[in-house]
Amino acid sequence: VDADGTRVFALDARAGSTEFAPGVASESWGFNGTYLGPTLVADRGEHVRVDVTNSLDEPTTVHWHGMHLPAAMDGGPHQMVAPDASWSPEWTIDQPAATLWYHPHPHGETEAHVAKGLAGMFVLHDEAERALGLPGEYGVDDVPVIVQDAGFSADGAREDPQRGYAGGLGDEVLVNGTRGPYLDATTELVRLRLLNASTARTYAFTWGDARPIELIATDGGLLEASVALDHVRLSPGERAEVLLRLAPGERVVLQSRMTAEIAGLESVVASMNGGADAFDVLEVRAAEELQPAASAPTELASIDDFDPAEVVTTRRFELGDSFEINGEAMDMGRIDETVTVNTLERWIVENTNAVPHSFHVHDVQFRIASIDGEAPPAELAGWKDTIFTEPETTYELLMRFDDYADPSTPYMYHCHLLWHEDQGMMGQFAVV
Ligand code: C2O
Ligand code: CU
Ligand code: CU
Repeated sequence: VDADGTRVFALDARAGSTEFAPGVASESWGFNGTYLGPTLVADRGEHVRVDVTNSLDEPTTVHWHGMHLPAAMDGGPHQMVAPDASWSPEWTIDQPAATLWYHPHPHGETEAHVAKGLAGMFVLHDEAERALGLPGEYGVDDVPVIVQDAGFSADGAREDPQRGYAGGLGDEVLVNGTRGPYLDATTELVRLRLLNASTARTYAFTWGDARPIELIATDGGLLEASVALDHVRLSPGERAEVLLRLAPGERVVLQSRMTAEIAGLESVVASMNGGADAFDVLEVRAAEELQPAASAPTELASIDDFDPAEVVTTRRFELGDSFEINGEAMDMGRIDETVTVNTLERWIVENTNAVPHSFHVHDVQFRIASIDGEAPPAELAGWKDTIFTEPETTYELLMRFDDYADPSTPYMYHCHLLWHEDQGMMGQFAVV
């Protein structure tokens, strides 16, 4: 924290190498290190600044995924940082406690930059969340779980998987850049912050012993109440916070067991999208003696519903063929939508494809008002900034564009399957 109270972070994007297998170095990129980046942590109300330096030999950007902030600070494709240059966006955190993240966003190169290792978590806290007494000791009972798939050659060198329709699907899963990961737990109650930072793969997280998975938060913050599920589905870019209650000495494996049904797909299409793959993701090993933990509250947050009567503008977005939205590919020089600041909007997103896409909107957290006309299930009823859209399905989203108007700098909306985004499945909106 500097003299005038600004919380200052430094991120340096670098090329390097990482031994994913002992003794075998693979080229990788990282922030401040050789793979991934530090977890940034801030409080609601704080003013933050991130001093970003680009030590790569090509331009990149850093985007704050899920953050409400001015367009010029957003780190999208218009805020490129040249090699050896730096960029220092600053803004005031004004949104609920949540698990957000950061990653590059250079148009046409996002998949490559993220796959090489440029990504990290951005955790926000607030008073209401602290008062709940949820596990909150970073790295002890509050643990980042950044999930990515990757390909490896027989000798253990990382190699880019071949692309299918969804993009590159690796046949191994890393957590926080680690193969065969485990977590030594020392407390009865553990909070895992799951981030799908994969470029293309969608996961269905579940516990190996079939106990329910207790979901407490989605992309933009805590749910109103925790919900017990048999799986948590996360497409690229989505986050979930889950709680795990442990008995002394037990071992529990976080798995991903995707099925066509969970993906909402025909089985043929599902297999093309990794829809039948199963993985052990993370083994949790409980110590013989565990720090006791009170039971977690079931009431978590109060979320005010948007009033649909206040909607000022309704827009439609068709996720169609050829990686286009509304029949057009991304054009950096074209602003697709112009939004009026401090108004409520309804965005109707229809996936007319036979394959899934994800849909992400910058600057806002939205609520899903309906899916094919029905109310969303509990796990999709909270704050979201990215959703998995099933084929032939229509999603009605409500969102407010508050505080920041800038006619000259657009924000993005796009498919978060990063290869699709790079191919142009993205559009731009300005808030005026
Ligand atoms: Cu996670 Cu436009 O990005
Ligand atoms: Cu984003
Ligand atoms: Cu897509």
